[in-house]
Amino acid sequence: MCGIVAYMGPKNGVPVVLDGLRKLEYRGYDSAGIAILEQGKIAIHRSVGKLIGLEEKIREQQLHGTPVIGHTRWATHGRPTEANAHPHKHEGVVVVHNGIIENYLELRRELIGLGHIFSSETDTEVLSHLIVRALQSGADFEQAVSQSLLRVRGTYALAVLYEKAPEKMIVARQSSPLVMALGENVGEYFVASDIPALLAWSKDVIFLDDGEMAVFDDQGMKVVGLDDGAQHEKEVRRISWDPIMAEKSGYKHFMLKEIFEQPDAVSNTLLGRLNEDRSGVDLTEIGFSQEQWHSFKEIKIIACGTSWHAGLVAKYWLENLARIPAEVDIASEFRYRDPLVGPDTLVIGISQSGETADTLAALQEARRRGATLLAICNVMESSIARLCDGVLYTHAGPEIGVASTKAFTTQLTALFLLSLEIATIRESLTSAEVGEYVQELLHLPVAIEKVLARAADLELMARRYHLVDDYLYLARGLNFPIALEGALKLKEISYIHAEGYPAGEMKHGPIALIDESMPVVVLAPPDRHLEKIVSNFQEVAARDGRLLIFSGPDLEISAEIDKLDHFIVDVVGEELNPLLYVVPLQLLAYYTAVLKGTDVDQPRNLAKSVTVE
Ligand code: AGP
Repeated sequence: MCGIVAYMGPKNGVPVVLDGLRKLEYRGYDSAGIAILEQGKIAIHRSVGKLIGLEEKIREQQLHGTPVIGHTRWATHGRPTEANAHPHKHEGVVVVHNGIIENYLELRRELIGLGHIFSSETDTEVLSHLIVRALQSGADFEQAVSQSLLRVRGTYALAVLYEKAPEKMIVARQSSPLVMALGENVGEYFVASDIPALLAWSKDVIFLDDGEMAVFDDQGMKVVGLDDGAQHEKEVRRISWDPIMAEKSGYKHFMLKEIFEQPDAVSNTLLGRLNEDRSGVDLTEIGFSQEQWHSFKEIKIIACGTSWHAGLVAKYWLENLARIPAEVDIASEFRYRDPLVGPDTLVIGISQSGETADTLAALQEARRRGATLLAICNVMESSIARLCDGVLYTHAGPEIGVASTKAFTTQLTALFLLSLEIATIRESLTSAEVGEYVQELLHLPVAIEKVLARAADLELMARRYHLVDDYLYLARGLNFPIALEGALKLKEISYIHAEGYPAGEMKHGPIALIDESMPVVVLAPPDRHLEKIVSNFQEVAARDGRLLIFSGPDLEISAEIDKLDHFIVDVVGEELNPLLYVVPLQLLAYYTAVLKGTDVDQPRNLAKSVTVE
């Protein structure tokens, strides 16, 4: 995700900010830039690609100045180009921004109507134009920033400079982190998206809170509420992390950090994709016409690994909600099977990296056969995103851990939105039904947070079973792919053999495996399959199996079943159980791997992106 670094003080801000941006490189980005105030003018320097490219570009210029603001961009709106790189400057106002401005299109249209001309495709650029507009209406710099931000819907962490207020630097945040540090010199301030960028200068930090704006000038620093301008007193916190821990925000592994980022990642994937009153879906960004949507008679989903599991869940949604036939294929099988696809097939490629060789090749095969391609992807302008006719990006931010977690739940979020969109177009759901599903989706991050708050219970569960050799995961219906996903998570990071199975298949073989040495994970949410799944886990108990049951709060389990762990999760809409029930399984796998002492973020033999066959 994007990174911001800003400096004001007696030092030359250029090396300070570049060093801070370097410390944020782990967050992933595709372009970089800085803005320097020097002799009353603000110069901006930007480049596509890595920070080293920007440094090469400015090396000869011996740049010197303060304040300086810098940015590494993880493209969400607008391709990774120099024109889209931050900072964005308009008539002396310069902005760097991390987040998503949900209503940027309507603001952009309004400003264009007032004669503004934009030089980028980004949502961020509307901020510099809004601030200029407020300044032209007589507001001072602080008022212009706060008035502009009060018109914005979405998320932001931002830093702003203004040529006509060279003594000031303003930062603000809403649902996107921003941390500040006081330098050892009077009037010296450091600001960054994350702690690693500040540790070289100070361990005493101040966290800006949502709806707050900080103003730095030669009078010092003040923090005010964006809504009422009231001054806020802020606590200085001492950070004890070392730089490596800081990159993981204090988590022991990137995987754990990314598991805990899922509520935000799901919320961010919803941003800008619901209509004004949040009663329906708006996926116009995909760019298909109504005629195109109506031309699709069937859907084929192609993916690998965890992304394939997301596709398996999507099949249920597309058929149950959108009433369109949907088949799911493993990419490495699809590409060699003379597949039946043609002009009336929508082929969806799901890929976190957007670079998986099998998925890319399978999509190229589908293209050759005349299908329309749609990518569900986490990396902007990746090969698969560029190949497809339309793209629906997940906004998970970079996923560093090899085992996919937040990418999976955001893939499911995007696929559920897509199912609702197609259901709306095909009128297989009423707008009231779509509205109910949207409300359930909006509640999901809260339900995930509640599971995360009980991570310790899953660590205890992992402690009881981390020495076993085999696991079996059982579920039914649209939760069966979550049994597969839970098993994959466990085996790929803890190296314990694990299988996911449709619970109804027990009697056709796996039941022969049941004994007290093999934990059997059973997903038993309160849905249409509950009665059957209860019989399944009673069959396991009758054969001395060791049950790990994940259910809603009302499941009654007979007292005779004594070899049992029971983890309860919230009740959410039945269709959304996959997004919720996968989270405790991710944590179970994570804590098991930690107890086994494996390399959780970089498991043996695995790569984050399998770009070879
Ligand atoms: C999942 O935890 C694995 N890392 C792996 O199965 C992964 O999902 C698969 O390689 C597909 O990757 P992609 O989503 O980047 O295409």
